[in-house]
Amino acid sequence: MNDPFLILGIAGSLREGSFNRAALRAAQSLAPAGATVETFDIKGLPGFSQDDEATPPPQVVELKQRVRDADAILLVTPEYNYSVPGVLKNAIDWASRPYGDNAWDRKPVAIMGASIGATGSARAQYHLRQTFVYLDMYPLNKPEIMISSAAQRFDERGHLVDEALGKRIEHLLVALVAWTRRLENDKGSAPATSQRDT
Ligand code: FNR
Repeated sequence: MNDPFLILGIAGSLREGSFNRAALRAAQSLAPAGATVETFDIKGLPGFSQDDEATPPPQVVELKQRVRDADAILLVTPEYNYSVPGVLKNAIDWASRPYGDNAWDRKPVAIMGASIGATGSARAQYHLRQTFVYLDMYPLNKPEIMISSAAQRFDERGHLVDEALGKRIEHLLVALVAWTRRLENDKGSAPATSQRDT
């Protein structure tokens, strides 16, 4: 485990003024003592092709290394058409391949997400949780952070203005660190699984 505890945050929107990118920046400034949130920008990742998975582009090589180096992952997702934006799924797919070289394998992961609507990316978050099953990631169940009416939670410069939401994000990060430490302590007591078990 790194010291400080290293969380890699990835936002699933490429938009300059993205609320999800803003929420990830907020998480960086709200990291608990002894932890840090670094980010990986998925902008510029090419579309995944299985033809290239054995010799991926440099940005994918870096993504996989950054995922492996992190103690835990934080995904901050918008909801597009009731699901995960293609750009985020694309990044997940790249780092899961080639078969047998899944960088996400057994990584603790927390999710949050923002949308301008009332459900705060809930459907996208549950689709991510489904993907975690195949990836064999270890999702933190709670707290769930679904940021509804996102335009009201950030100012025009993308700064978080909702104090209660800030507290919930802090709580999420504390819970992610605790969850990871618990998994670390339990290591060896559970049988190993693999994608072949599916
Ligand atoms: C959306 N939006 C949206 N919102 C939602 O709550 N449920 C949805 O299914 C969708 N679908 C959707 C599809 C597409 C293609 C776009 C561009 C947008 C609205 C979305 O919540 C809003 O644009 C957010 O601001 C997107 O997140 P970022 O870019 O601000 O992080």
